[in-house]
Amino acid sequence: MFAHNFALVPLCSLDKCSTSGKCCLDSVVGDAFENPGRGQVLISYCGLAPTQNGPTPKIRLEHATFEGDFFKFRIEGEENHEGIIPGEVLRKYLNDQNLRTNGSTKMTFHRFPNDWIPTIDFPEILHEPGQHKLTTQIATHGYCIVTGCSTMKNGVLEVARKISEPIPSVYGLTFDVVSLPNPNNIAYSSAGLAPHMDLVYFESPPGLQYLLCRRNDAMVEGGESVLIDAFEGAEHLKIAFPKAFEILSTVPIRFQKIHWERENPVYLEWEQPHIVVDFNGDISRVNWAPAFEGISDRNSMTNEYLDAYRTFEKVMNESKTKVIRRLEPGECLVFNNRRMLHGRNEFKLNGGVRHLEGTYTNICEFRSRAQVLECLQGHGKLIKKVGNTNAI
Ligand SMILES: [Fe+2]
Repeated sequence: MFAHNFALVPLCSLDKCSTSGKCCLDSVVGDAFENPGRGQVLISYCGLAPTQNGPTPKIRLEHATFEGDFFKFRIEGEENHEGIIPGEVLRKYLNDQNLRTNGSTKMTFHRFPNDWIPTIDFPEILHEPGQHKLTTQIATHGYCIVTGCSTMKNGVLEVARKISEPIPSVYGLTFDVVSLPNPNNIAYSSAGLAPHMDLVYFESPPGLQYLLCRRNDAMVEGGESVLIDAFEGAEHLKIAFPKAFEILSTVPIRFQKIHWERENPVYLEWEQPHIVVDFNGDISRVNWAPAFEGISDRNSMTNEYLDAYRTFEKVMNESKTKVIRRLEPGECLVFNNRRMLHGRNEFKLNGGVRHLEGTYTNICEFRSRAQVLECLQGHGKLIKKVGNTNAI
């Protein structure tokens, strides 16, 4: 099998003509596949978008041919530079592009989550078929609960490592969500937590979040975990409230964590709209963390923005994707932090203990692992988009 990266070398030589060049290559290659007996030379022109300063430059693909199962081509003016792409790589590329264009990697939204919550038992994820089930559930629905986990310290790492290596953050490699007398973070109190994403003030916020319930005594009242699919909310907003969607996808908002009263002070800032769209206009990232919004530019803070903000908040709070579930000891809630908002209801300890242990993993490593497992254990389909600011 050829390494796919090899094929990107000749493809890169067409970067000069950007997207149109790649489309052009598609059509040339497609033609060659469809007409294998027709001549050996295919010539095509790739036009660039017109510019204001005169005629559009053109790149000429002067020679392209199939030799055996290798596609060879040369670009005019590039002496001694012949690109060679293995046929199997091209076929996969064209097939995947076709599937992506037809929407097979678009997120799908589970409509009745309280009737059916995806779960898997820990012993199952010790092996690849179970790991494939887990990553598929998360890639499809945004979350899954792993039952039967160890409640020992660092048990959460044991779960996460079945998919990808946990990554440390400003909160450490693991963090304990447990009530403290004088909490320096609202998460460590008994207050309810409004639905949010973690660490949106990072360029790359955590991908998966694992929350293992180590202890949740029977006398503890409340404290149910809440999940809401923010991408479903944003898609709904786009259709039902297009003006609000336009505002929230264009107005820059400051997110921050500036905290000096901690062992290692942090000064983290990030500015982006709440909803990020890619060059196709599709939603590629959502930033939602009300408790970590800083002071945005005064031009951002308009009545129209506030109305749009409240509308989006209402849409998400009323979402059919909302899941409310009390975690029991040994259950580990695993969710895509780039897609799902998480929160919790207020609780009363009544003399008991509620203790969750959390950790994070990287979103691109999850995407990679999910795709690898789908290829090895599934049907080799492309996994759904994961909301990592990526158009594919
Ligand atoms: Fe959180």
